[in-house]
Amino acid sequence: MQIRNANNKDIPQIINLWKKTKLYFEHFDKKDRLEEKIDKEPDLFLVAEEDNKVVGAVIGNYGWRVSIDHWVVSQKYQGKGIGKNLLSKIKNNLKQKGAEIALIDTNLPEAHTKKLGFEYRGNNNNYTIKL
Ligand SMILES: CC(C)(COP(=O)(O)OP(=O)(O)OC[C@H]1O[C@@H](n2cnc3c(N)ncnc32)[C@H](O)[C@@H]1OP(=O)(O)O)[C@@H](O)C(=O)NCCC(=O)NCCS
Repeated sequence: MQIRNANNKDIPQIINLWKKTKLYFEHFDKKDRLEEKIDKEPDLFLVAEEDNKVVGAVIGNYGWRVSIDHWVVSQKYQGKGIGKNLLSKIKNNLKQKGAEIALIDTNLPEAHTKKLGFEYRGNNNNYTIKL
């Protein structure tokens, strides 16, 4: 398994993963916007590759608001540490830009978020994670 920066050819596979897990936002996840992200901030758009396929992805946003978004691993490949690996690399890349904390919007079960060290912000699906 390899974690690497996403490239334009990965986009259809990534969109497919997001669609399957209901993370896909038609307004933001357009091909041209994703290509722009890859062009401008290649280290904040990562994929996991296995068996010559994209099996996971994650996006980091560094701006007024720092967030980790669209974190996904294909169902067949879940539970093998790929998600943790993606998360750790995106956290590191955000930290290198100067961020200390990131928001993550997720409806993962509490047992899962606790184990991952996410801190619940008390409203909706908002959590933070220390970088
Ligand atoms: C969240 C997601 C990316 C994790 O990917 P993954 O490859 O399965 O994760 P890992 O195998 O690296 O597991 C990471 C950690 O999550 C926790 N975890 C994973 N599955 C869990 C479960 N069913 N229950 C409780 N904790 C769980 C564990 O802490 C695990 O670490 P450990 O093995 O050291 O105990 C994947 O489940 C997914 O794509 N979910 C659907 C999309 C989603 O909800 N994304 C998050 C919102 S952005």
